Amino acid sequence: MEISVLLGDITRQRVDAVVNAANRAMRGGGGVDGAIHRVGGPQILAECIRRFPDGLATGDAGWTTAGDLPARWVIHTVGPNHAGGERDRSLLTSCYRRSLQVADDLGAERVAFPLISAGIYGWPKDDAIDAAVETLRQTPTRVSEAVLVAFDEATHRAIAGRLAADR
Ligand code: AR6
Repeated sequence: MEISVLLGDITRQRVDAVVNAANRAMRGGGGVDGAIHRVGGPQILAECIRRFPDGLATGDAGWTTAGDLPARWVIHTVGPNHAGGERDRSLLTSCYRRSLQVADDLGAERVAFPLISAGIYGWPKDDAIDAAVETLRQTPTRVSEAVLVAFDEATHRAIAGRLAADR
């Protein structure tokens, strides 16, 4: 799988699936989650309620269609809330592994990821980048391209540096 990075808004990505940094309730929120529901429209929330009546566990992932987004599917995953005291790193790497498994189930070939847990959930940025890159590199998948979408220039630079250091 090719791993690339770009600076931008994940809701604008023309990929097969975009990954949402959701929460256990799966009823929307701020950050990426807020943007995906705002731009994708109410159909995504309606589908979340129907398909995930009990929400999702931390580290797990599940999908809905993508409403008005250019992508076809949204893969919702729940990162650990570092700011709230959830510090188990295997829950963060699990988000990337489970999202790739769901993408494989869907037959999604190009998947855009945000930096899970690195915003409102407060996971230290450099370690969030390491967890993302190492897990995407190590997980067997039929996905052909994972696009890490950075929302600011400093994060974009840090991810690009991490990808270059690995080559
Ligand atoms: N496109 C790409 N990246 C973004 C965007 C965007 N539109 N918006 C923010 N980011 P966050 P979390 C970056 O907070 O930390 C919600 O309330 C952001 O700068 O979206 O996993 C949920 O409902 C950061 O680097 O997700 C949960 O309750 C990264 O995306 C909680 O926040 C992730 O930030 C999840 O928190």
